[in-house]
Amino acid sequence: MEPVIPNLRRHPRAEAYAQLLAMQALLLEGHDDPIAGMATTATLLHHAFDHLWTGFYRVVPPGDRLRVGPYQGTLGCQEIAFGRGVCGTAAAERRTVLVPDVHAFPGHITCDARSRSELVVPVCDATGALVAVLDIDSAHPDDFSADDVAGVEALVAWFARPRPPAPSPSPA
Ligand code: SME
Repeated sequence: MEPVIPNLRRHPRAEAYAQLLAMQALLLEGHDDPIAGMATTATLLHHAFDHLWTGFYRVVPPGDRLRVGPYQGTLGCQEIAFGRGVCGTAAAERRTVLVPDVHAFPGHITCDARSRSELVVPVCDATGALVAVLDIDSAHPDDFSADDVAGVEALVAWFARPRPPAPSPSPA
């Protein structure tokens, strides 16, 4: 049976992320599938903090747009062009974007009217290529701090971990 995700909303955030990192490492040990990594990471964050929406937008061909990936929450929009909204800004500029008040962010894309603050973190693979962004929406204003930025960036570092080389084909 899988472990139960603790509700960490009232815990000091740095401690909460340390717990989530340990759970992520345990759950994904031996796994090399980015979709499994996205689903597991989104679920841990979403339920631990009782967020409104938590999930990944993946970079898709020709490389200038994001398409929705594994997520938890109400329906998200399907595609976002680089440069549009908070997610597209994070992708185009390859930087974490923390938005304390979504109503004050020009071009914010509203998927759920209850959203008040948002954190979007770029996700890179082991080669350094941008593969996705992780988007977190909160119903609480100003819900994210530097501890959240550090914690979420540490969680998405799983996608950039070095992978063992593929086994070479055995001689015929
Ligand atoms: N608010 C995001 C769009 C995605 S939804 O929130 C799930 C944005 O402005 O990019």
